[in-house]
Amino acid sequence: MKPIRVGLLGLGVVGGGTLAILERNREEIARRAGREIIVTRAAVRPVDLERARNRVAGRVELCTDPAEVVNAPDVDIVAELMGGIEPARTLVLQAIAQGKHVVTANKALLATQGNEIFSTAHDKGVMVGFEAAVAGGIPIIKALREGLTANRIEWIAGIINGTSNFILTSMRDKGESFESALKQAQALGYAEADPTFDIEGIDAAHKLTLMAAIAFGIPMQFDRAYTEGISRLTAQDIRYAQEFGYRIKLLGMTRRTAQGIELRVHPTLIPEKRLIANVDGVMNAVLVKGDAVGATLYYGAGAGAEPTGSAVVADLVDITRMATADPGHRVPHLAFQPDQMHDDRVLPVSEIETSYYLRMRALDRPGVLAEITRILADLGISIEAMLQREPEAGEDRVDVIMLTHRTVEKYIDQAIARIESLDSLSGSVVRIRLESLEAR
Ligand code: NDP
Ligand code: HSE
Repeated sequence: MKPIRVGLLGLGVVGGGTLAILERNREEIARRAGREIIVTRAAVRPVDLERARNRVAGRVELCTDPAEVVNAPDVDIVAELMGGIEPARTLVLQAIAQGKHVVTANKALLATQGNEIFSTAHDKGVMVGFEAAVAGGIPIIKALREGLTANRIEWIAGIINGTSNFILTSMRDKGESFESALKQAQALGYAEADPTFDIEGIDAAHKLTLMAAIAFGIPMQFDRAYTEGISRLTAQDIRYAQEFGYRIKLLGMTRRTAQGIELRVHPTLIPEKRLIANVDGVMNAVLVKGDAVGATLYYGAGAGAEPTGSAVVADLVDITRMATADPGHRVPHLAFQPDQMHDDRVLPVSEIETSYYLRMRALDRPGVLAEITRILADLGISIEAMLQREPEAGEDRVDVIMLTHRTVEKYIDQAIARIESLDSLSGSVVRIRLESLEAR
């Protein structure tokens, strides 16, 4: 059988990793796919042309116009590994229009333009593989779309941004500063072109949006995701969390409730006894709760050249195997048949339900704690644990930290507003959400 021919758009971290794997494991991959998979063309920036020439040594035709790769007759699958929305969107749609299959690692593109891309691909009968777009090398899309297909998925919780997890771990274990840890993550090829996507939870929200679509059979609704990053986390809160037996992680959480779908990314206290709380560095983990299987956990490198290339190649092999199958008999892009998608409501963050860590600075005098607990009790919020520090010498104020039981976010909003208006309080109340992640 003739080899299947791949055109790479972008030969950076992921493009380079993909090419390296395809070349190194060429025979093994052909034995699995049933045909050889070869890269025939790649588009790079003019400034990178010389370096790329040295890298591919005549084996791959190089150019600086990605549309040339998309339109080339010797390209069967277009692998979009450039990133960004445009021109990636236009190029992907051009490839689909020509009946070419697409593989992409671009979660920003799919989370924001995926509804259009998948519906166009469905109409044209072509496949769009995106395993690499979520959790790097972990085959989580395959697991959700196929392995767990018997289940009604109840919730997914994931550490799905390698860069922010790397930063949090370096700060906690090595005492690194935020800035220096970020620089290292960038040097290792983990960070997005714009690292605020990593730090502010946007990248994790892109990935969560994709997982929620596949898990619940809903369209991609990135604009309704609640997103809060790690840039305002303090070492003090990380320490207090540890005193209570928790780790703070940037967690993506999506849950099906009677009221609608929760879709949120934020720093979260997780009991340190949970496996997922011990996922460190660039590693990612995704915990999926299905009604039949219970909780399942997927763990692996969340970023980097070859871990991500591994996921790109897995899609290339899948497409190679399925290319001749009738499109109606392939696994649907988003797990559910396109006419079976539901438009369930994504809840505003004020309607989500979770537990909370609250830290406040209060006057060390009788009655203050009673005032605070009265406010919480009036709103039906019960306290699970509390810690009050001794005042430092010469200080009349102390840190008070409370962990609450589960409540609806709007009640915590009201409680914080009332607590902050007390004369006995100074500054604002720090609120970090807490998930016990019990697989009940
Ligand atoms: P890189 O910046 O390392 O590689 C992308 C390459 O594509 C760069 O060399 C870039 O050049 C080039 N490029 C961009 N636009 C064009 C264009 N119009 N014509 C020619 N070349 C172009 O990024 P990554 O490999 O890290 O990421 C690629 C994609 O994979 C992104 O969507 C990212 O989100 C995703 N991803 C990345 C992971 C990782 O670990 N790095 C993991 C999972 C997904 P220039 O730099 O000059 O723009
Ligand atoms: N910047 C992303 C991360 C790359 O750090 O997780 C993998 O998607």
